[in-house]
Amino acid sequence: MNDRVMPPADMPDTAAPLIGAGMQRVESALKVRGEARYAYEMDAATLGVTTEPLVGVMVLSTIARGRITATRTATAQAMPGVRLIMTADNAPAQAPWGPLVAKDRFARAQPVLRGTDVHYYGEPVALVVADTLEEARAAAMAVDVRYDRLPHDVLLDAARATEPEFLNGFKPAKTEFGAFDTSYAGSEIRVEAIYETPHQNHAQMEPHATTAMWQGDTLILHTSAQNLVSIRNGIAATLQISPHRVRVISPYVGGGFGGKLPYFADAILAGLAARSLGKPVKVGMTRPQMFSATTHRTATRQTLRIGADRSGRLRAISHDALSHCASFDNFVEDTTTITRGLYRADAIRTTAHLNHLDLPRSDSMRSPGDAVGMIGLECAMDEVAHATGIDPVELRLLNDTPDDLTAHKPFSSRHLKECLEEGARRFEWAARNPLPGQTREGEWLIGMGMACAMRYNLLKPCQALAHLDVGGNLTVQLAMTDPGTGTQTILTQIAAAAMGLSPTQVHVEMGDTAYPPAPGSGGSFGAESAGSAVLRACENLRELLLQACVADERSPLHGLPREQLHLGGGNIHAGNRHESLSALMERAFPHGVDAHGQIEADAASLKWSQASFGTHFVEVAVSAVTGETRVRRMLGVFACGRILNRRTARSQLLGGMVWGVSNALHEENAPDPRTGQFMAHDLANYHVSTHADMPEMDVVMIAEDEPVSNPLHIKGLGEVGICGAPAAIGNAIFNATGIRVRSFPITPDQLLPHLPAVTV
Ligand code: MOS
Repeated sequence: MNDRVMPPADMPDTAAPLIGAGMQRVESALKVRGEARYAYEMDAATLGVTTEPLVGVMVLSTIARGRITATRTATAQAMPGVRLIMTADNAPAQAPWGPLVAKDRFARAQPVLRGTDVHYYGEPVALVVADTLEEARAAAMAVDVRYDRLPHDVLLDAARATEPEFLNGFKPAKTEFGAFDTSYAGSEIRVEAIYETPHQNHAQMEPHATTAMWQGDTLILHTSAQNLVSIRNGIAATLQISPHRVRVISPYVGGGFGGKLPYFADAILAGLAARSLGKPVKVGMTRPQMFSATTHRTATRQTLRIGADRSGRLRAISHDALSHCASFDNFVEDTTTITRGLYRADAIRTTAHLNHLDLPRSDSMRSPGDAVGMIGLECAMDEVAHATGIDPVELRLLNDTPDDLTAHKPFSSRHLKECLEEGARRFEWAARNPLPGQTREGEWLIGMGMACAMRYNLLKPCQALAHLDVGGNLTVQLAMTDPGTGTQTILTQIAAAAMGLSPTQVHVEMGDTAYPPAPGSGGSFGAESAGSAVLRACENLRELLLQACVADERSPLHGLPREQLHLGGGNIHAGNRHESLSALMERAFPHGVDAHGQIEADAASLKWSQASFGTHFVEVAVSAVTGETRVRRMLGVFACGRILNRRTARSQLLGGMVWGVSNALHEENAPDPRTGQFMAHDLANYHVSTHADMPEMDVVMIAEDEPVSNPLHIKGLGEVGICGAPAAIGNAIFNATGIRVRSFPITPDQLLPHLPAVTV
């Protein structure tokens, strides 16, 4: 199937206890003890300066669109501790908003306080810097901003939509396989449905925060970010300085989920204020500020049309998705991506529409595109199953495909069938009554639903440096991030396995642009990109050591063929001869030895479509009295290539499923059309699922080898867990009640009018 080099023969031996094992997170003790420093926790001591950082608080706009006519700062300026008030009147020059021309939208210039125009409710319009947070906050409340309002436009409206050229990731906006109109018209069963999903907000446990200081001409930013190299370039572009004069440091990140792929006003304002004042400045967002001054997941309106034979063979699928981006931006949610590749059909058509709205920027949120797009696709598939009378699992099996039809490529590995069969068996799916609304327990209507999961796989260019000291301790460095996912841990495992060392001898240093460039964490590409670069660096290091060993006349292994040598347990072996690594190091590399490694997708691997797959199975109970839905059981079965760490992999998949429950039942943020403001701006009003909402949950990872994507044989799994999960819940609610809710989340008010009368 491929001509890729497998991991070296000596890796599996030493790797066996390490790769796949559920090693505990290497930084967990530091985090539990409060010793892991987050960006906002930097102080004089940790910055190595003599005065504590000054504190900046942002002032946000209170109109959605219009112009600032005056910013009155005299009162605030006179308040205690105030050092600086920065507004559009006095903000230093910055580059204009960067157009999305290059392939990296996070490296664009994003000026702040860039003029008097207001683009959305909650846009930063001033920064107040004072000695303390309390002083800055008090003065920020005294800044008096006057506006001329203009009419705003905050609601999706298909009638005024435009057709974008590209979707997120520069995917084409339209794809066409086969002849949709003919195939659909000729279908015996036709389902046409409109699914709607709401705006959703990030509210990471650690809000966006930056501590900035200048060392001469160089800006040092401790900021909470997923994607250090891109934002370093973007911040440098904004400030119109060389990227070499910006260093971004972010070793610990309290949650990212795509919301920390871009940088935000906290980083730019802290950098500008620190330069103006000649002192370190920190700027953090409050929880309410997080709901507007960052990015969110766009609402979507999706039109699905699926045609099938009575036998369940799909004839035609079409998926059109309307989404929004900010008035000044051009992000397009890639809602239809999975529809392009999940099923076999005679014809598949995907199209996109876009509204530019006076709302905050829409951008990535966990599994952008697919998390919402699979709601439309997988609920519509359930409608096809119901219309044809074919079991939903059987329908998926019937339309499984080894090829990605619209991409005209085969899948490198695809075990969807196994996920369907294993899931159905474990969940006892056969016990489900296919007729909706038939299973009752008192006031509770019980139902089961399922959906597939899929997320395309991506390898991004990455580099790493490995250094072995004479004492046998390995240090690995790269500008990678770990937003709580376990990246530092899996990189430790990979390096230890490749070098035959104990994980306690390996130190993975990341989160700093001073290290070799890495793509950061996002798009489920982190583990394979960074992991492969670390593996390559370690392989190169191992090669240096083994070559030195056979070349060294003082070594007992001198002159042996290189292929006979293996590294493991702190020794170099060949048959029954060996020498210790430390002896070799002392002789050959008394000052230690370095090796560099890098990875990028090779042309051969791009001849394949690569994706992770899975299935969700759900049992719900819906109260006929209150309309409340309780998820009772949830099973996810996934095929994501080899698993590096069962514990952190399970956490990622489980977290996606938990978020799926939240998406299905709780999360939404509607803009208030009168003010243009998102109605929820705290976690009291923005509802997310909590522990009490969580059912019995089970995650199964089936054994799979990914043969082409990367030398680790893994696939991304950070996002596939959310894909399809909300649809499975919606489908279970239909099975429980016979009510098909097509507007997510599925709240009690949508169910209540249609539920049967019950006597309790
Ligand atoms: Mo992910 S939403 O691409 O960090």
